[in-house]
Amino acid sequence: MPSFQVKESIYSVGSVDWNVRVFHGYQTPYGATYNAYLVLDDQITLIDSVKAPFTEELIRHIEEIVPLEKIDNLIVNHIEPDHSGALPELVRRLPSAKVYGTAAAKKGLDAHYGDMGMDYVAVKAGDTLKTGKYTFHFLPMPMVHWPDSMSTYLEEEQILFSNDALGQHIASDERFDDQLGLDRLLERAGDYYANIVLPFGVQVQKLLEQVTALPLKLVCPSHGVMLRTYIGEMAAKYSAWARNESDEMKAVVIYDTMWGATRKMAETIAERWQSEGKAVELIDLSQRHVSYAMARLLEAKYIAVGSSTLNRNVMPNTAAFLTYMKGLSPKNRVGLAFGAYGWSGESIPQIDHVFEEMGWQRLPMEKAQWKPQ
Ligand code: FEO
Repeated sequence: MPSFQVKESIYSVGSVDWNVRVFHGYQTPYGATYNAYLVLDDQITLIDSVKAPFTEELIRHIEEIVPLEKIDNLIVNHIEPDHSGALPELVRRLPSAKVYGTAAAKKGLDAHYGDMGMDYVAVKAGDTLKTGKYTFHFLPMPMVHWPDSMSTYLEEEQILFSNDALGQHIASDERFDDQLGLDRLLERAGDYYANIVLPFGVQVQKLLEQVTALPLKLVCPSHGVMLRTYIGEMAAKYSAWARNESDEMKAVVIYDTMWGATRKMAETIAERWQSEGKAVELIDLSQRHVSYAMARLLEAKYIAVGSSTLNRNVMPNTAAFLTYMKGLSPKNRVGLAFGAYGWSGESIPQIDHVFEEMGWQRLPMEKAQWKPQ
């Protein structure tokens, strides 16, 4: 896709990755985008870059608007390679450009790419960059998603370049939230939040306090569509997710089974919860990726996890899910461990122990020897 004019002096010049299906272990069935933004003023500024294989595409997009050599400033909101992969080539071709980022970003860039000979300006909260008519404000947001992360606010246009925050993994022809539609936007944003941002709720709340105090006409994240219509709806969802709010009437039953007995138990638990009026989703881990299960439990209060006992342990898919979920650390949930076994039954207390470690309320474990009655 070509570059896209967002406003008179602002262009989206990043890349759409239609084919990526795994993003550091997180399944991305609809692809992703690596957004970068070019802001024209007396000085020309590029905000973020793209994954390394898309470097030439980024440069082509920039050169649809201005010769690359005209760029004066590179703002590095985040060093993860999906946003900094093109930086070594940009620095090589723009030796006199100034590079703006946090002190933590400088350390990370040096570690990743070695000494690029950058003219680096380490910025902190309250620092600004004046490029002519425009003023950029730097808003460090450590751990949303790495220690180096920051957002950049363009005061005169009331635009927040939010980097990973408020992003969504979706490759699409649509550029704006209202083109995608609110339901699809929140579904993709929730999937992204559950798999990337969930451990950092405290930091997200701090960020929201800062940015909701700003006048905002547009949010330009580094993944997915730009927000112009549903900024309030997205901020409200982020606030709820960051506080680990969940819905008493939503439940998920996640399991893996050897010969079907644990599946039968899963169905019985689901039916019981449905009879209480809860909306329930059954997720078979042999058919669904762990990152799908994470997205589906984001708003669920009740989470049942089941596994047959295999070699005195949980089944491998359940082990992967429990490890992944524990790292992402959803809080304030009610867990129910269940499973069928032949002669030892270790899987069920192992699952329950993970709930205990996560500080969840736990329902009594449900076990069945050989098969449920
Ligand atoms: Fe999109 Fe933390 O990188």
